[in-house]
Amino acid sequence: MPIKNNAERWGSVSIGLHWLTFLLIVGLGTVGLIMTDLPTSPFKIQVYTLHKSFGLTVFALSLLRVFWRLLTGVPKPEPNSPRWQNSLATVTHGALNALLLAIPLSGWLFNSAAGFPLKWFGLFALPKLSGFNPGLKAFARDMHETLFYVLAALVLIHAAAALYHHYRLRDRVLARMLPMMTLLLVLPGVSSAADWTMQPGSTLGFSASYQGEVFQGRFGKFTPQIRFDPAKLADSRFEVRIALASASTNNQERDELLVGEDFFASAKLPEARYSASKFRALGGHRFAADGTLSLRGVNKPVTLTFTWTPGAKPVLAGEATLKRLDFGVGSGDWTDTGLIPNEVKVTTRLVLAPAS
Ligand code: HEM
Ligand code: HEM
Repeated sequence: MPIKNNAERWGSVSIGLHWLTFLLIVGLGTVGLIMTDLPTSPFKIQVYTLHKSFGLTVFALSLLRVFWRLLTGVPKPEPNSPRWQNSLATVTHGALNALLLAIPLSGWLFNSAAGFPLKWFGLFALPKLSGFNPGLKAFARDMHETLFYVLAALVLIHAAAALYHHYRLRDRVLARMLPMMTLLLVLPGVSSAADWTMQPGSTLGFSASYQGEVFQGRFGKFTPQIRFDPAKLADSRFEVRIALASASTNNQERDELLVGEDFFASAKLPEARYSASKFRALGGHRFAADGTLSLRGVNKPVTLTFTWTPGAKPVLAGEATLKRLDFGVGSGDWTDTGLIPNEVKVTTRLVLAPAS
């Protein structure tokens, strides 16, 4: 994993600081709310002292995180996500960062105005932000408490949004803020990639040429079983069954020839099958599936390169080039590649929805 943030994901520094901050805030908030009710005792003072030191740690880590963010940038928004969503995320992240600085500062101010000393884990003293000032003390205390509740509310919305992205939109927003191992170990349902069903508007086509004239064809009937998650390529699978007799090129004579003995021979083996379980990330939202095409009883490797556009209805748009003669498509006189070139381009556009 990269140290720095890049256009695709958060780097290890931002990820580490994010989750460390998360743990510290949960701890500080819980202890903060409990400690004020403790009976006055040396133990209470000890808890307060620790609260302050850990609180100052969050302040320092937040400064570092914001500095790192300014230095190395933030990942690009997911493609297809509406602009209002991106703006809302930017505003929320900005507000969270501001609160992560303002809350410890208000605690520090409260401590200064109350006239208490402040030492970070007993190691070094911090300067006072003000002299003794009961009015300021009360104000800073109220701010400390109120801002904490604002943070708690924002964090709930923020975490809900992250989970919504992950489980409903099934995009990479949460995955890119998680260390790789967490994806496999911690989150339930994350270890297996998502299953998708095909929606209307999906197509599977091919283009070839005859005597130099290009023609397009499409399969009216095909059944893709798609299990895919950009963050879990090892667990992803494609299994597509194609009814060869459903091929059409808008030319009845040619279509009859195509499904007949010399070409697809659909009477003998009615289906072609494409299976892939090896996937490669090509950068951005581009991927390659190294799979096998079974056609006319011949199995040969075929690589499908595709773009995965996440969203509520992700779109898989891909293409593959295959050599028809490898599969015996076009026998007899039709083997002449001057008449019909050997290379045939297959294109697909699958509109998908989560399989329930
Ligand atoms: C992000 C860091 C921090 C968080 C999330 C946090 C959270 C809280 C919470 C939830 C309370 C209870 C509020 C109440 O019921 O009055 C509290 C109390 C308190 N916090 Fe923090 N705090 C943080 C940092 C600090 C720092 C840096 C200091 C001082 C340097 C500090 C000093 C105090 C004190 C003195 C109280 C007790 C107020 C009282 O006695 O009424 N806190 N904090
Ligand atoms: C105390 C709790 C939390 C705080 C204060 C917090 C704060 C933040 C901040 C400030 C960012 C922007 C990144 C940056 O500026 O470095 C961020 C990003 C993110 N947080 Fe949190 N977070 C908290 C808890 C959570 C939880 C519980 C989840 C998941 C369930 C989560 C998921 C994410 C994700 C996925 C991003 C990246 C969003 C993107 O790439 O657009 N956060 N968080």
